[in-house]
Amino acid sequence: MKKLLISTGGGDCPGLNAVIRGIYKRAKQEPDWEVYGSIEALSGIMRDPPELIKLNRSKVSGIHVRGGTILKTTNKGNPLQYPIKDAEGRITFHDITDKVADRIRELGFDAVVNIGGDGSQKISEALHRHGIPIVGVPKTIDNDLKGTDMTFGFQTAVQIATDSFDKLVTTAESHHRVMIMEVMGRDAGWIALHTAIGGGAEICLIPEIPYDVREVLKRINERYEKGRGFVNIVIAEGAKAKDGTITFSAGEEGSEHVRLGGVAFELSRQLKAVGCKQEIRETVLGHVQRGGTPVAFDRVLASLFGVKAFELVLEGAFGKMVSYQNNSIVSVDLAEATQSYHHVDPKGSLVQGAKGLGISFGD
Ligand code: F6P
Repeated sequence: MKKLLISTGGGDCPGLNAVIRGIYKRAKQEPDWEVYGSIEALSGIMRDPPELIKLNRSKVSGIHVRGGTILKTTNKGNPLQYPIKDAEGRITFHDITDKVADRIRELGFDAVVNIGGDGSQKISEALHRHGIPIVGVPKTIDNDLKGTDMTFGFQTAVQIATDSFDKLVTTAESHHRVMIMEVMGRDAGWIALHTAIGGGAEICLIPEIPYDVREVLKRINERYEKGRGFVNIVIAEGAKAKDGTITFSAGEEGSEHVRLGGVAFELSRQLKAVGCKQEIRETVLGHVQRGGTPVAFDRVLASLFGVKAFELVLEGAFGKMVSYQNNSIVSVDLAEATQSYHHVDPKGSLVQGAKGLGISFGD
């Protein structure tokens, strides 16, 4: 029998389980493949004894509906920057890709499917350069991966953010308040922009368009002057003022990313400093955006990604990442997909359409 290894790395994301099930179901149509999962990304195979699970029908049955990942995940096990503690407890980062590649060979895997975001796909690319037959599957609620029109998980995050936004509109209206809702997305404003359009925000602040707080205040004042009496703002966690910097929350030892967060409070402070007279309340939506069941679109996309990933394995098309382009499931080179990020185009149709709806970007 041939052995396939699946790994889910980075932050969890609605749809991961649907990919795992898709891979398994397609693999079972072949007579000679067994499917294994590494626990907590590739950390599982590096442990002694390795932490692996062999997938079977009962393990994947019905999991497409469940959030999270049955294989668990971590954003602290990146082999390109593996955190190692010295005797004094200090953490330094090392590239251990060669060791991971050796371990995959030692355990007898014929192919690997690595499901993850930008960090994970850089790992896939590095492992491929080390001779590992690997296929990547793009996941992230941030939708910031190049090489695919959309990642799974994004639509679920937008739906959760929009539902939350709707709830904040009724309370803003009742109290004549300015409500600021902070959403995730790192350096990309996709979640914020879709939520602002879907929810009907007055103001949307995204990393791709640094804002002028006086312009934001102007839009707020205009609305109160017109007698509308309340304002709803969506701000992406990576947004910043034209003359400001990104707002970081507390760092975390060993993590591959610096953590963003708190810009809603920063904006609130800036608005008061330039004379905003209205009552302001801040909501930081946080990890609810990644939790719970995936919406149908993400279940479909993730399931089809899983099937396609296994078909690429069958074809021996390694060094590829599955991708959604022009309504089709295709594949792109990992090297191309990991070169840069997919950001909102400030001059693109989405931003122009939002402006057409009267949404201010504070620019
Ligand atoms: O990349 C997904 C994401 O949810 C980002 O939107 C967010 O900045 C980050 O992960 C949060 O990471 P953590 O789960 O480590 O706090």
